[in-house]
Amino acid sequence: MKVTFSIIKADVGGWPGHSLVHPRLIETAEKEMEKAKKKGIIRDFHVTHVGDDLELIMTHTKGTDNKQIHELAWKTFEKATEVAKELKLYGAGQDLLSDAFSGNIKGMGPGVAEMEFEERKGEPVIAFMMDKTEPGAFNLPIYRMFADPFNTPGLVIDPSMHRGFTFEIWDIMEHKKVFMNTPEETYDILALIGAKSRFVIKRVYSRNSDKFAKDEPVAVVSTEKLYQIAGEYVGKDDPVAVVRAQSGLPALGEVLEPWAFPHLVSGWMRGSHNGPIMPVGIKNAKCTRFDGPPRVAALGFQVANGTLGMPADLFDDPAWDYTRNKAQDIAEYMRRHGPFEPHRLPLEDMEYTTLPGIMKELGPRFQKL
Ligand code: 13P
Ligand code: 13P
Ligand code: MG
Ligand code: MG
Repeated sequence: MKVTFSIIKADVGGWPGHSLVHPRLIETAEKEMEKAKKKGIIRDFHVTHVGDDLELIMTHTKGTDNKQIHELAWKTFEKATEVAKELKLYGAGQDLLSDAFSGNIKGMGPGVAEMEFEERKGEPVIAFMMDKTEPGAFNLPIYRMFADPFNTPGLVIDPSMHRGFTFEIWDIMEHKKVFMNTPEETYDILALIGAKSRFVIKRVYSRNSDKFAKDEPVAVVSTEKLYQIAGEYVGKDDPVAVVRAQSGLPALGEVLEPWAFPHLVSGWMRGSHNGPIMPVGIKNAKCTRFDGPPRVAALGFQVANGTLGMPADLFDDPAWDYTRNKAQDIAEYMRRHGPFEPHRLPLEDMEYTTLPGIMKELGPRFQKL
C-alpha cells in the first residue's frame, strides 16, 4: 500500500520564553489528532515537541500537499494558539503568519516534511526534529548518511546501495532546484551544500530502480519559510526531516551515525548565533543554556499498514553521552566569543541587528580615511 508520512510543526508559544512546549498544548493537539483519526482523515499520529516547537507526526493515505491534512494541522495549531494565549505563553501564535488557511500550509509559517511511498515488508522511518537552527543544518548529516562511505559502509558493501543516490538541492536565494547524483557528482554537490544558508538538501532518491520508484523519496527536509520568500531573510525555521532506513537504504545505525559529530549550525540565541547541534532524547529537548544549544531529537517508527506504532526515542541512550559532552565543550568554547563572529552570525545572516541604527547615529562622526 501507498502511505504518506507527514511531519507538520510550528512554534505557537513557548513555555517559558523559547525553551519548551507547555504540556497543555500537547494535550490540545492530541485531542484534535484523535478526532481526525476517528473520522478516518489520518491513519495514525504522534504529537511531541522539541524545544518550543510543537510537532505533529501523522500517517495517512492522501498523498503530500493534501488540503485536508494541511488544514487539520493548521486548525490544530490554531486551537493550540488559543490555549497558548490563555496561558500567556511566549510568542503565542508565533509561527502562524496568516489569519486564515489558504489551501496549503506551505509559506504560512509552519514547517512541513512529508513523503509518499510504497510501504515495504519492513519500513523503518525516522523523524528528526530540530530547534534553534535552520534547514541547512541537515545538509551535513543527510550527505553523510547517503553519500559518505566512511559513515555508511553500506555504500561500499551492500549491492543494493552501490549505485548511489540522487540529491534534490534547492537554491533558496534564486528559488531554483537541481538534481545531482552520487557518487560521480560528489565534489559539485559539496561545493553547493557547504554553503548551507543558501543551498539546502530538499529530498534524496535511490538510484536502485529494482527497489525504488524513480520519484519515490527516501528522505525529505522541511524548508518552508525560506521556500516561500526566496532571497529575503525571514528568520529561522527550526527544521524537521523524515528519513527511511534499511533494505537498499542506510541501516538505522548508519542514519544515526552522522549525529555523533555535533557540527556547528546557525540559529542559536535570537536566531543569530552559531553553536553545536546536540542530539537528545525528548525529555531533554529543552533549550535552556543561552536558549540552546541547538537540539535534535530522533523518533524511530516501524510503520505497519499505515500506522506508526510506538515511537522509539533514539537519542535517549548513553551511546550519545560522549557527543553531548563534546557539544557542551563546543558550546562553552563558542560562548566565550560573546558578541564576536564566528559565534555571532555574519551581518547578512542575523535575524535582527542594531547596526543600521548605530551607523545612522554615528553618521556625522565618521571621518574620511
Ligand atoms: P540484522 O542482521 O540484525 O538484521 O542487521 C543487519 C544490519 O545491517 C545492521 O546494521
Ligand atoms: P525560536 O525560533 O525557537 O522561537 O527561538 C527564537 C529565539 O530567538 C531564541 O533565542
Ligand atoms: Mg519560540
Ligand atoms: Mg523553536
